[in-house]
Amino acid sequence: GFNHVISLQIKETKITRLCHEKTALTVNGQFPGPTIYARKDDVVVVNVYNQGNKNITIHWHGVDQPRNPWSDGPEYITQCPIQPGANYTYTIIFTEEEGTLWWHAHSDFDRATVHGAIVIHPKRGSTYPYPKPHKEIPIILGEWWNVDVEQLVKEVQRTGGDVNISNANTINGQPGDLFPCSKDGTFRVAVEHGKTYLLRVINAGLTNEMFFGVAGHNLTVVGTDASYLKPFTVESIMIAPGQTMDVLLEADRATDGSCNSRYYMAARTFATNTNIDFDNTTATAILEYVDAPPSAGPPEFPNLPAITDIAAATAYTAQLRSLASVEHPVDVPTHVDEHMLVTIAVNVLPCGSGNETACTGPGNNRLAASLNNVSFGNPSIDILDAYYYSIRGVYEPDFPNRPPFVFNFTDPNLPQTFWPTKRATEVKVLEYGTVVEVVFQDTAILGAESHPMHLHGFSFYVVGTGFGNFDENKDPETYNLVDPPYQNTVAVPKAGWVAIRFRAANPGVWFMHCHFDRHLLWGMDTVFIVKDGKTPDAQVMRPPPNRPRC
Ligand code: C2O
Ligand code: CU
Repeated sequence: GFNHVISLQIKETKITRLCHEKTALTVNGQFPGPTIYARKDDVVVVNVYNQGNKNITIHWHGVDQPRNPWSDGPEYITQCPIQPGANYTYTIIFTEEEGTLWWHAHSDFDRATVHGAIVIHPKRGSTYPYPKPHKEIPIILGEWWNVDVEQLVKEVQRTGGDVNISNANTINGQPGDLFPCSKDGTFRVAVEHGKTYLLRVINAGLTNEMFFGVAGHNLTVVGTDASYLKPFTVESIMIAPGQTMDVLLEADRATDGSCNSRYYMAARTFATNTNIDFDNTTATAILEYVDAPPSAGPPEFPNLPAITDIAAATAYTAQLRSLASVEHPVDVPTHVDEHMLVTIAVNVLPCGSGNETACTGPGNNRLAASLNNVSFGNPSIDILDAYYYSIRGVYEPDFPNRPPFVFNFTDPNLPQTFWPTKRATEVKVLEYGTVVEVVFQDTAILGAESHPMHLHGFSFYVVGTGFGNFDENKDPETYNLVDPPYQNTVAVPKAGWVAIRFRAANPGVWFMHCHFDRHLLWGMDTVFIVKDGKTPDAQVMRPPPNRPRC
């Protein structure tokens, strides 16, 4: 592969949206930040300069980073944050990924504005498994708050309660025509009749899964999370925070004046827990034919599923299947060494166990979240350093393979005795090469909802999914071991389960968490430490000497 060097300057910048000006972190003065381009097997060296006024880290979401956890990025997991005025050099090692990924801040809620696309092209001399598109366009879905996102985090910590909803969903940083003071900034895509465009759709939102569609055009889905899919055609897609979807759009509307020349692209929330507030606004961008006479009326609007349409989301997701071709084969593990059943819950901790000054969570507690009833507590130094240098007292290697008790996980009438969780920094240690199956089980503790679970260091096969409680005798019979999709983030259905498999052949320290930022903050996280045979430390890439210290 090729080696190239880029630099990202993180700086406070004035941004105006929805008639409000605020100061927010941007990268190289851009929001969203610059796109990183690479080819399969490249190595990209990124110098990150923190010219802002708070600690920050950057993560290369979906890049496996083989034996290179030191450049993965989550704060207090693989590194201490980069302090204001300091810099850190990340090495991004691309191996199996091909398609679309993204990068984002991995500290507090900074990724609201600190994010950008990663485009990984096929190796020189090889091509896409679909006809070459005329143009490729990153479409980054996000959320905008009029307030400073640092204030959001502070507010959550002060009250122990929930996060205020965003003021608008966005497409490439813009709310679009339906919002005040936004028309001029609306993102526009110019197309020519008869050409095909590749939209690289990324959900960079902090709190919501989303539906996305383009009026008058079907979308042919060809990839997700930098892995190719068997193409299928839909009117709209569902995309969870952290995920990417590569879709082909054929500009096939008549340009003789008989059709509109402009079409809205639209993104709006897919809400699975309607007991809590959510942003129900619709972000828009415009697709316009440059070779058609401009039409007088407004652009056509796409037909998106209703905000609560779980059936539409399920039907969409069920169509994701790996391409599984000769050039892009699958390698689904058929034998499992370690079975884990991991419950996902929003919980409470007693008021006073944090630094809150008011307690507005359920039952006057503070909100927390857990995996297997362990609410992950951030350590004071990063777990990777603690592992590498055998520093005691930073984490405990006892994250459980099963929930501590079995109950009717998806019963909507669970008693309050299920609300509390414990807080600890528990990790799961794996021998090198272990084949792991994780069944994520959603629970109805404080209300069931879909959770986008993300794993660092690996992509995984999504071998099964269903509603209700996972049945370990029956449900494995329904697994797809032939062409399951290969992802780094999977939306666990509301009151349902998902089974994933991966081979732990990447030594290091790897975070696993819900990609809703409030759940990550509340502790819906754990860590895998993957050893490497008899001499683990020697095999993990040496710690960079200039890395930030806590
Ligand atoms: Cu996209 Cu741990 O994150
Ligand atoms: Cu979650």
